[in-house]
This record gives sequence, C-alpha cells and structure tokens, in this order.
Amino acid sequence: MSGEFVLVARSADHWGHWEMPLKEGRSVILGRQPRDGFAVPWDAKISREHVQLSLRAGRVHVQKLKSARNAVYHRGKSVGRFELEVGESFRIGGTRFELRQVDPLLQKLLKAVDRFVVKKKLGVGPSGHVYAALDRETSLPVALKVFHPELAAQPPFRKRVLLQAKTLRDIEHANIARLILADMAEGVLFQASELVPGKSVARMVQEKGPLPLRRTVEIAAQVLRGLEALAARGLVHRNLKPANVVSRVGTMKLTDIGLDLPAGWVARSEHGELTYFPPEQLDGRGRCDLRSDLYALGCVWFYMITGQPPFPGDDPRAVAAAIRAASRPDPRQFHPKCGPRLAQCVLDLMAADPDHRPQSVADVLETMRDPALVGLSVVCKNCGTAFAVSSKLSGRTVPCKECSSPLRVPVVLE
Ligand SMILES: Nc1ncnc2c1ncn2[C@@H]1O[C@H](COP(=O)(O)OP(=O)(O)OP(=O)(O)O)[C@@H](O)[C@H]1O
Ligand SMILES: [Mg+2]
Repeated sequence: MSGEFVLVARSADHWGHWEMPLKEGRSVILGRQPRDGFAVPWDAKISREHVQLSLRAGRVHVQKLKSARNAVYHRGKSVGRFELEVGESFRIGGTRFELRQVDPLLQKLLKAVDRFVVKKKLGVGPSGHVYAALDRETSLPVALKVFHPELAAQPPFRKRVLLQAKTLRDIEHANIARLILADMAEGVLFQASELVPGKSVARMVQEKGPLPLRRTVEIAAQVLRGLEALAARGLVHRNLKPANVVSRVGTMKLTDIGLDLPAGWVARSEHGELTYFPPEQLDGRGRCDLRSDLYALGCVWFYMITGQPPFPGDDPRAVAAAIRAASRPDPRQFHPKCGPRLAQCVLDLMAADPDHRPQSVADVLETMRDPALVGLSVVCKNCGTAFAVSSKLSGRTVPCKECSSPLRVPVVLE
C-alpha cells in the first residue's frame, strides 16, 4: 500500500503547509530547496538539504544531514538520528513535521468498531498490517491485525479465522499469545490478540546469529508446550515459523495461530516463508495435524541452531521441490558443536513423511530428556515453563526461571 504514510509540514504562522506521501523502501531529502525531495521554501532556518527520511518495513527513520546548520528537535531534544512514530512530530526552525498514517482499511475498521485506539504501526507481514492498539473494553494493549483484503476474500481462510477464534479465545496458556477477538466489520477481516512486546525468534537470529544450543532446546520445549495446549483442543497451528514465536520476559509465546496461509499466496508474497511449510500443506488441501506443526518446529529449530532456514532461496518452486524431496540438510554441517543426538532430533521432526516424524509432543519431549542432547530439559509444574539445565544439576533442586518455584531436575544415570 503505497502512500500509506504521510508527512505533514506546517510553519508556526500556518502560512507554509503541505502533505507528502512517503513510499515504502524509499528515502527522501527534506530541505529548503533540495535537488530532489520535499521543499520547505518558507523557512530560512532550514538548510538547502537538511534531513533524510526513509521508510523501511513500515518504520520511518530520520537522519540529520552533514549539510544541516540548525538543530532537529524530536521529543524536546536536539537529535541527529531517530525513528519517527505515527502521530509524532519533529521540528526544524519554525516548522513542525508530523507523521500521519492513512490506511483506508484501518480507518474503515476503526469507524465500524468503536473499541480500539491505534498507537503505532508494528509492521506488515504476509497476512496483513499489524498495529499496536489499546483495547478500550479491557484496557489492555493489543496487536491489531488487519488482514489483506485479497486474503480475507478467500472463503476457506476467512472461515478458519472466524471459526477458530471461538476456541482460541478460551485458551489461556503461558506459551500462547491470547486471542481477544477476531471478526469481520464493514468487509474488513481483523483480529486483536495479546501484544507480545519482546523479540521474535526471527529477530533474535537476525540480530545475533545462531542461538546458544541450550537456548534452542529451551525455546523448542516451550513451543512444544504451546502446541500441546492447541492439540488438546483439536487445533493445529499451521503457521509456525520464527516470526511467530515471540518472547515475553523470556517465555516464548506462539502467535498467529490457525492462520493457514495458502501456499500459493506465501510463494507470491515478498515476505514468503514457504520453507516452514510441511509437504502436506503445500498442496493446500489442509490435511494438517499436529505432525505438520512438529515439522515446522524442526525447521524453526534448524534455523535457531544454524542461523539459516533449512531450504533457503528466492525461487518458490525450488524451495517447494526441496521440501517435497526426502533428503534434509544436517544441522551439524553448519554448527560444529551440534551433537548427533540434537541433529537427529531436528532431522526426525523435519521428515518429509508425517509417519516418519515423532507422533506426539510427548515423544519429542522424551527425546529431549536425553542428557546427551545439550543438557536436561525441565518443565515447571506450576507455570508450565520449560527450559534446559546442565546435566551436572541432575538430581538437584533449581528455581524455575519464570516463577521461581522449586523444581527437581531428573536424575540421570550416566
Ligand atoms: N501479537 C503480537 N505482539 C507484538 N507484535 C506483533 C504481534 N503480532 C505481530 N506483531 C508484529 O507485527 C509485525 C508483522 O507481523 P505479522 O504477523 O503480520 O508477520 P509475520 O509474523 O511475518 O507473518 P504471519 O502473518 O504469517 O504471522 C512483526 O514485526 C511482528 O513482530
Ligand atoms: Mg505473525
């Protein structure tokens, strides 16, 4: 959606005024008389070329240029570089620049549903645009997702979102981001869910590279707990990937549950992450069960260990062919410290044939109890948090990392 962000300039005396659209992936120069960009001819305090504005992945970054003489004020301070949020402004000389968002779909929704106060845009993904908002009914912060209209127009997708919402709304679990509401208003499909403020696994790996092996086991165990809670209610995640495993104070939560994006749609999307789709989901007939989620967990785990997805590449046909083929990359090729047991656990999860994968969450957790994996996996009976501890602590009592309840580490006979 181009032209979605608009920069509004207004001089203190209100004589100078314009509104300019910002385009995704583009940078623009703002100055009194830039060679190419947004001109503010009325303000002598603004240099010929003063700041650069860039819109990337739904975020607006402002950078003061070397040619700028006077200060740029943002949140009351003179700054050289900052992120400008929707509704905020910055000032140069006697002119104020405000960032506004014009998302027609969002406007339509907010008019029809008088419940959410949008604070800022969080980003855009293959299924829709996501905003941080305040839910006035519960006074809780929520992630408000407005689905892409083309996707919302597909009856199987729309029906699944609306039908599953009834079950999802009742699930309260440490490893699941709570769904608050999913509905259709004025033809706009949307969902509001718990706002999870931490980093996603995708972001963690993008920022720091492969995660410590023990941490990958902790995260995998927490994902399994979430999948178990879904399976207990007959639900399959169907959209498990690094971007949908997000942390809240160290506890990993599953987001975007049941959003069964059609494989063809993902393959077309610029954000496409076909690599986490199991072979049985590729044909789009929806024959998914818990084992499909276990497959995706194997791929997420591979990504955490190696820092790259198991089937990288931009060509969706080549990625789909690699997913359907029987052979799988061995994480040991990419991580020298990954042991054979851990590698086998991940490879078993990623098996092309669902019958060759572990058949239940309990099966995987059992494998993870093997001290030779990378340590011992313990699960807190009080809060459900799972994490790994060193096998040296076998038989001892340790505090739960989440709720501090005492936990007995299983005794392991060497
Ligand atoms: N519940 C949430 N809490 C906090 N941030 C969220 C939440 N859901 C999404 N986001 C943020 O919104 C942005 C877009 O997320 P979105 O879910 O649309 O994309 P995705 O996860 O890549 O794909 P998918 O649509 O398949 O889930 C991301 O930056 C993500 O971190
Ligand atoms: Mg998501």
